[in-house]
This record gives sequence, structure tokens and C-alpha cells, in this order.
Amino acid sequence: MTDTVLIFDTTLRDGEQSPGCSMNLEEKLKVAAQLEAMGVDIIEAGFAIASEGDFEAVSAVARQADRAVVASLARAAIGDIDRAWEAVRHARRPRIHSFIATSPLHMRVKLNKTPEQVLQAIEHTISHARNLCPDVEWSAEDATRSEPDFLARCIEIAIRCGATTINLPDTVGYATPETYGALFRDMIARVPNADRAIFSTHCHNDLGLGVANTLAAVAAGARQVESTINGIGERAGNAAVEEIAMALKVRHDVMPFRTNIVSTEITRASRLVSGITGFQVQPNKAIVGANAFAHESGIHQDGMLKDSSTYEIMTPESVGVTTSNLVMGKHSGRAAFRSKLEALGYSLGDNAFQDAFVRFKALADAKKAVFDEDIVALVDDEVLRG
Ligand code: KIV
Ligand code: ZN
Repeated sequence: MTDTVLIFDTTLRDGEQSPGCSMNLEEKLKVAAQLEAMGVDIIEAGFAIASEGDFEAVSAVARQADRAVVASLARAAIGDIDRAWEAVRHARRPRIHSFIATSPLHMRVKLNKTPEQVLQAIEHTISHARNLCPDVEWSAEDATRSEPDFLARCIEIAIRCGATTINLPDTVGYATPETYGALFRDMIARVPNADRAIFSTHCHNDLGLGVANTLAAVAAGARQVESTINGIGERAGNAAVEEIAMALKVRHDVMPFRTNIVSTEITRASRLVSGITGFQVQPNKAIVGANAFAHESGIHQDGMLKDSSTYEIMTPESVGVTTSNLVMGKHSGRAAFRSKLEALGYSLGDNAFQDAFVRFKALADAKKAVFDEDIVALVDDEVLRG
């Protein structure tokens, strides 16, 4: 089995399904271009049958994409699949992604179909999709609440009818790393033709476990992961691509898998998506939050000035941020204050430094954050008074 994990980005489809997050065609093209620059393998560009606008956006992304596979989502209906194909067919590497729910709850309440009818729908629609396109993905919506025996039958039929990727979504973010990993291990072991398809993860974050579940499934044999930039998506969102990619890179010692992600493009992608959608990234968000490489405590700042690996497990440069940020505040110590003064071009004698440091601490107690301008004002005042 290969050690490469394919990154399937669904920012433009599942991400766009976050309330208030819709993007216009021009914006989608910009995001798609950045996803390619970042090395994403598959871009899910939208849900072609959902609206005229979605169809046009998927077609435009398909025409623009250079290296990445471009996918459109489709329900298990011939009309959906034909529309998806019409939209992606101009791509160099098109994919049709069809899904149907397989959990007892969804089949009964949402689809009003028996399990046998669902099996027939899979057979009919995946065969049809495969006649149109050589690259077909099938997803078992609500896979993590499906009966394992039934799910295994669905997967076997989907592969027999031509699906090349099998996605087992944790649609409602219900799985834990143990149960999600076990699901992949079980399905890969028991489905007789499992070796003819790539297994894929798709995790929602309702319990905050999206990335942990994704990594557990990779350890269990999944070789495609579906995720979004900044983790945007329905409800609590999807697993965040930047966290998955950096976890696999930084902890390659315990997760020996590689991705094609160009990590130095991550911050640019995060800022682009945040700027376009208006969805702010929380400051303490892993990898791309404003504080991800910021240090305020005196002990940490002192360590950072000696050797950044004391408090950083990856360099900011590795994700496209120019430098770490020593935030000047009430927890900052003398070493960080001296280093900040040097960076601002000041070289104070011992007495002047001591006075400035005392005044800086008093200011930091009064203000939430002390900016460079505050320090410049404080030192200039010190110099004038001195
Ligand atoms: O969460 C989900 O189940 C999905 C499928 C449509 C792939 O987004
Ligand atoms: Zn989803």
C-alpha cells in the first residue's frame, strides 16, 4: 500500500455549505488557483445540480485546473450525475462524486427507501457514472451510524460497478478515533474487492475530533482525506486541511505518510479563504491562528531567543509565515524586552534600560497588548527625560 495520502479539498463544496459562507464565481476561481498552488490533489468544486451558479462555478474551475482532479458532487440520481459530468467534463482530470445515505435512520426518515432500494440505487447510478467518467467516487453518507454488514455490501457493489474511491463520511461528527479507525480496518478487511479502490475519510467536527478521526483512519488504511481550509463547513465544520497536512509532516516519525501539500502556501490559502468568506480564524487556531507562533510569557520568550525549538514544533516559515512573534505584554521578561529594543534600533545603557523596563511593565499591566509604537514612545520619552 502506498504511503501517499491524497488531499481532497472540499472548501468550495462542503466548506461553502457553512451558513453565510457562499462565494461567487470569481472568488471560487481564486480559491481553486490557491488550492492548486498548495498542492491539493482533488478539488471538489461544488454541487453542479444545486444551482445554475454552482454549475457555472464547477465548469469554470474544471476549465482552469491544471494538475488537480476536479470533482462535482451528485446525489444517487441519473439527473444529478449527468449534470455533474457536464460540469466537470472539461477538466484535464474530471471526477464524479456520488453519494447516498446508508444508515438506518437516514434511509428510513430522509430517503424513505429500504436497504434493498439503496443497494439498487448504488448499482444503477455508479454504473452510469462510470460509463461517463473513469474516475468515480462513491460516498456512504452517515457511514459511521450504518450497519457494518450492510455498509460492506454497499461498498462491494459500488466497487463492482466501477467506483475507484470509497468515502466513508462521519457526516455528523459522531465517531471517535478508535471507532473510526476500526471502521476502516473492518471494511478494508472484509470487502472482497477492497483493493480495487482507495478508501477516503470525510470528518465533521461536531465533537472537535475531525482531525484526530482522520488521522486514525489513515493509520487504518485510508489514503485520501477530505478536508477544508480553516476547517470551514456545515455546523462545527470539517477537518482542517492545514492541521492534517502539518500533523503528517511534523509527526512523520509516528505517522509515516506523505502528502503533496506545499506547506509554505498554507497561510496564504487560509488568509484568502478567510478574507473571501468573512469567516475570521480564531487566534488560537492550530497552524493558521494569529497566535499560532506568538509567545508572550517571559520564560517562553527567553527560550525562543535562545533556540526556537524550545517552544515551537515547526517553524513559522514552514507554513508561510515570515517570523515568530514575541508579543510584548506583562508576562514578557528582560531578554525579550532587550531583543525588541534592538529590533527597533535602540541600544540603551544599563540604567536607561532598567528604567525603560520598569515603565514598560507598568504600561503592560495597564494595557492588554503593548505595540511597537508604545515601546518607541516609551523609550523616546526615556531618552528625552534621561
Ligand atoms: O458529510 C457528508 O456526508 C458529505 C457527503 C455528501 C460526502 O459531505
Ligand atoms: Zn460533509
